[in-house]
Amino acid sequence: MTRPIGGTEGRTARLHAAYRELTGSRYGCRRVANALLEAAHARLRSAYLSSLPGYVAIEVTNVCNGGCVLCPVGQGRKSRPVGFLAWDDFCRIMDQVTPSARFVGLYNWGDPLLHPRIYDMIEYVKARNIFTKISTNLHAFRPEDAEHLVRTGLDDLAISLHGLSEESYRAYQPRHRLAPVLENIKTIVAAKQRLGSPTPDVHLGFIVTRHNEHEVDRVPEFAAALGVGYLLEETSLNLRLLPYDRQMNLRGIDEAMLRRERLDLANRWLPKEDSYVNRYYRYVRTHDGALPAPGQVRFSCTAPWRQVVICVDGDVHLCCGSFDRRHGMGNIFEEPLRQIWNNVLYRTARRRIRGTARVSGPPVLCSDCPGMLL
Ligand SMILES: C[S@@+](CC[C@H](N)C(=O)[O-])C[C@H]1O[C@@H](n2cnc3c(N)ncnc32)[C@H](O)[C@@H]1O
Repeated sequence: MTRPIGGTEGRTARLHAAYRELTGSRYGCRRVANALLEAAHARLRSAYLSSLPGYVAIEVTNVCNGGCVLCPVGQGRKSRPVGFLAWDDFCRIMDQVTPSARFVGLYNWGDPLLHPRIYDMIEYVKARNIFTKISTNLHAFRPEDAEHLVRTGLDDLAISLHGLSEESYRAYQPRHRLAPVLENIKTIVAAKQRLGSPTPDVHLGFIVTRHNEHEVDRVPEFAAALGVGYLLEETSLNLRLLPYDRQMNLRGIDEAMLRRERLDLANRWLPKEDSYVNRYYRYVRTHDGALPAPGQVRFSCTAPWRQVVICVDGDVHLCCGSFDRRHGMGNIFEEPLRQIWNNVLYRTARRRIRGTARVSGPPVLCSDCPGMLL
């Protein structure tokens, strides 16, 4: 969850799809009612919610082939055993979220195209008239599946592509080459044209870093030449994970060492151009790697009112930046989502954000989070 810097990501397409979903489904009225309640609760910052999350991310796998340099998975960090969501478990999750969900993203930490049944899963979500999205690096994409992908009805296809040249692309994904990814994009766009399909809305997800900031101005033209849109996004350095080793145990290093590591990451990865960098990271790089005092830099966050991430083992997490298994809020295979959504951990997370939680409350991720997981 980082800040968008600019792009063409289709809001109108999303509104049209939302209209179709609400009017074309027997759950339409319940979803509208849920959306209204959700908006009211988010505005009032209620701790106990009568709505369920409208935005659901389902991690169909936490296996990834990307090797992204700043991503904890690419760095080889392990928070839980790796695996693929079983079909029956996927259906059990969908049964719970279908009446209220308006959006289902079928990815989190891992690449969704590695799941052998990903296209069946997309079709399953679409059969329930829910807007659905995947984000993928396209390395596991098979060109012969292009028409199948388009026919699933997938609404939104984000392609992680963080460089327009082999050099800048490989700075973030050193194990891969750009050329095959571009070929795959062309294959998907051609399949859409052949089938006369307006979906999926394909766009490049371009994380702006020191290695590609010189290409930012060319992204719109580059994307247009491919026949796709684009979304420029701020990078996360995942600084919060620095104190931990690959098994997510504390490394026991002191603040002086952490500051050196933070500054080194900031200098190697943050764009030089300040407007691509948020206030928190600007502080880190102008204060020798020190973090702002708690509360000094805050971003508004409504995640615990609106969204939920369900990991491959059923653990429910607060948002897509929540990596550590210890930050799980409950398990959807052990208790209903409605119960987890209002348990003491969730209520504490909401109270922490609105600043009314008792200090003695249980530890939750939101306690230390400035509103974006940075
Ligand atoms: C962790 S990836 C997993 C999905 C898939 N493997 C992919 O590459 O799109 C989920 C999202 O995180 C984004 N992402 C990767 N590295 C990032 C970073 N350092 N800061 C912010 N977002 C990042 C990706 O572009 C992608 O949209």
